[in-house]
Amino acid sequence: MRLFDTHAHYDSGAFNADRLEVLASMPEKGVELILNPGCDLDSSRAAVSLAEQFPFVYAAVGVHPSDCGSWEDSWIEELRALAAHPRVKAVGEIGLDYYWKDNPPREFQQKVFHAQLELAEELGLPVIVHDREAHRDCLEVVKAHPNVTGVYHCYSGSLEDAKTLVKLGWMLSFTGVVTYKNARKSLEVIDWLPMDRIMVETDSPYLTPEPFRGQRNDSGKVYRVAETIAQVKGLSPEETAEITMENGKRFFKII
Ligand code: NI
Repeated sequence: MRLFDTHAHYDSGAFNADRLEVLASMPEKGVELILNPGCDLDSSRAAVSLAEQFPFVYAAVGVHPSDCGSWEDSWIEELRALAAHPRVKAVGEIGLDYYWKDNPPREFQQKVFHAQLELAEELGLPVIVHDREAHRDCLEVVKAHPNVTGVYHCYSGSLEDAKTLVKLGWMLSFTGVVTYKNARKSLEVIDWLPMDRIMVETDSPYLTPEPFRGQRNDSGKVYRVAETIAQVKGLSPEETAEITMENGKRFFKII
């Protein structure tokens, strides 16, 4: 299988002991491309640096809603400068997260989200959106920027919202969560979703798929996501890997 893990955080401290070895081992595991999004300025810089070190790694730069507490408007200039790097293919990950009680206030998260969507529009880049327990507000913010398209990563919304997003030209991507017992809702969305709108990801080091739960996640396990989607769609895992690879390359403009 040839796979594109469209969302993995190799700048995470969970990879401090063996980051370069883990990344270097990916091509022999069939992982041909990896997109590493940033979560704050330092993490975005680290993502760019990894993309410089590995020809199969690309970066996105952005500030995650859970990490936006000390956001200042000048950060946009820093993100703009980072995004000028040729291996930066998106703005992300950005969005809204109402799950964690000590996250920054909702209005503040929305302000930061809007600002980064404006940057994406200015730069002509797609966005990578994180939406946790914020479905209604997230869609509202997205709709306020009709010239920006992107991907909802680790999609957890309803079928109805998925239909709206597809109409707006967006992609949805799925993690190891689709292999869990309680994944019924995601599988329904996948069943409906046009095959050209699906991407696969690990969200490493988090969200390890079955049967590896409890271990640290890495891109070598993304095939489990492709296998699960293949089952729902009645395709072979290889076909699913191929199609989601092409979707990712087209979406991130990777030639
Ligand atoms: Ni993530």
